[in-house]
Amino acid sequence: MLIIGHRGAMGHAPENTLQSVQIALDIGVDWIEIDVYAVENDIVVIHDDTLDRTTNGHGAVMEHSLASLRRLDAGKGQQIPLLSEVVNLIDAKVGLNIELKGPGTAAPVINYLSEHLPPHWTQDQILLSSFDHTELQRAKRLNPVFNRAPLYWTGEIDYDFVMGELEAVCVNPSLRMVNQKIVDEAHDNGLAVLVYTVNEKADIERMRKMGVDGIFTNFPDRA
Ligand code: G3P
Ligand code: CA
Repeated sequence: MLIIGHRGAMGHAPENTLQSVQIALDIGVDWIEIDVYAVENDIVVIHDDTLDRTTNGHGAVMEHSLASLRRLDAGKGQQIPLLSEVVNLIDAKVGLNIELKGPGTAAPVINYLSEHLPPHWTQDQILLSSFDHTELQRAKRLNPVFNRAPLYWTGEIDYDFVMGELEAVCVNPSLRMVNQKIVDEAHDNGLAVLVYTVNEKADIERMRKMGVDGIFTNFPDRA
């Protein structure tokens, strides 16, 4: 079962910061997950569409200039990182799951990956995910080589869409939603299952027994 550091290792450091990513690397995760928004001509790493919860700024992320976002404190003196900074810090040592969180994120992320991903990274070290499945469709159209994973909070998984339209490699259900039937159906369709967010030891063990392929966790050390 792959251990995926959630927003870095957000149980140990301010989420989606370079410090959080470094701690996840130090713990020894297999993959790291981050959330991204496109701002001006760059890609910033932050979860919410507003600044108030995780930084000392206020209001909508998308209504700020890149320069003003970069002046903010995202916790413990950390900056809001750029995608490129996270890529450089990880340095292809583990995989990177980029969750397309902001609107219109697929095109700039695909552009960055296609043009600027350092050559020692392999394309299968990148996984694109999103609750917005149309962004994943756009990503596939722009450059299909980067793997895709639709996220689900609840509801049914449409395997025709996942395998046909998205050509995804896995499905990523919430811990609340996942059950043995979902895991077995996904596996029967040749898809991996990555479950978020699994923090309690009993849940980690339950996911192992269910045969899920990976978990997102705030506390990778517990897994
Ligand atoms: O990708 C798994 C998980 O990060 C999705 O939920 O809200 O933590 O971005 P959220
Ligand atoms: Ca996320």
